[in-house]
Amino acid sequence: MFDFDTRPERRHTTSAKWKLIEDELGAGHDDVVAMSVADMEFVPAPQIVDAIVDAARRDVFGYDYATDAYYEAVVGWMCRRHGLEIDPSCIRLSDGVMPAINTALRAFTHPGDTIVIQRPVYYPFTDAARGNGLTISNNALIYDEASRRYTIDFDDLDARLADPRCTAMLLCNPHNPVGRVWTADELRRIGDLCRAHDVLLLVDEIHADFGRDGHPVTMFGALGEPYASQAIEFTAPTKTFNLAGLLCSNAFIRDARLRERYDVAAANIGGMTVSHFGLVACIAAYNDAEAWFDELLGVLERNRGVLADFARTHPDVALVEPEGTYLAWIDLRLLGLETDALRDFMHERARVYFDEGVMFGDEGAGFERVNLACPTPMLEEVLARLETALATLGR
Ligand SMILES: Cc1ncc(COP(=O)(O)O)c(C=O)c1O
Repeated sequence: MFDFDTRPERRHTTSAKWKLIEDELGAGHDDVVAMSVADMEFVPAPQIVDAIVDAARRDVFGYDYATDAYYEAVVGWMCRRHGLEIDPSCIRLSDGVMPAINTALRAFTHPGDTIVIQRPVYYPFTDAARGNGLTISNNALIYDEASRRYTIDFDDLDARLADPRCTAMLLCNPHNPVGRVWTADELRRIGDLCRAHDVLLLVDEIHADFGRDGHPVTMFGALGEPYASQAIEFTAPTKTFNLAGLLCSNAFIRDARLRERYDVAAANIGGMTVSHFGLVACIAAYNDAEAWFDELLGVLERNRGVLADFARTHPDVALVEPEGTYLAWIDLRLLGLETDALRDFMHERARVYFDEGVMFGDEGAGFERVNLACPTPMLEEVLARLETALATLGR
């Protein structure tokens, strides 16, 4: 049994998630609870803490390289958890998935090219595309109101990929924020279309460890050839084990020519030095903290149930049942509040800070993204606040 009950006090620490409230809402909002940025309100796995403390006492903090032990830990995790075979020579380290994606955009696209993304989607995809001078081609996900499920508009995707200016697609698997775990069939269809139109597929799989029963995550590379070699997969231990501050991620690039071009872009950026504690933490996480992670999955399942119960008894809160990730996407459009009014309602009345849906694209207007990676009583407190605030609207 690990500790998923202690609620670390992160307000007024170095936590960016909690600082956001201070910066954005200003004075008088010290009681607002952060349920936004995707890191976790749990104390870290003890195996990882021990490894870091040992390393801090023992090591010298010069420039590092990734040892065989590091690659073995990554390869072992991917094989055990995902049935993914990965040759260590295909792994490229960086200090984050977004830095690695930005490196890939520099390597494989030119300003003025078009890139396909699927909104509503993790907003740094938009920033990365824009920052690299790319035009966004939005293959908006289809939301079925009745089933509250998102699907891909494949005809639209085909047409977008066929555009000769389109050189890349950035896929979120599983999808943040809508929580879809793409099935193997869906992934094959995406892969087939990208191959047919000679579009490079960049697959962000940072949430891949968070599938739920009935929704096993297929990592793109696990589809085998020709899929595995046509794509670059971006992974990290940082969501899985809450290590974002330690800066560590692993991209899988099986095609040698793609690797060469990626390496040139990475060298030109010059920022691919690995973090000493990132390496230490990744090895400890993948080798020694699997039991912690399995227990975490149970806590997340409990929290999903708490939120689902709340949604059942509050008809204005429609839950898009997540198939994966530790995030949930709730549809509040029945409240009839415009974006500013909904923001005001959350921050000033409910005293809760979710990520507002519109951040992920216009398709997300009226939705909120809830971070479920917190001790259950914290989630219950947030929902009680929401209930009280809803009552003030006569709901
Ligand atoms: C889909 C997705 N990709 C990337 C990231 C960020 O990864 P990193 O901190 O490794 O850049 C996040 C963090 O929330 C995410 O949800």
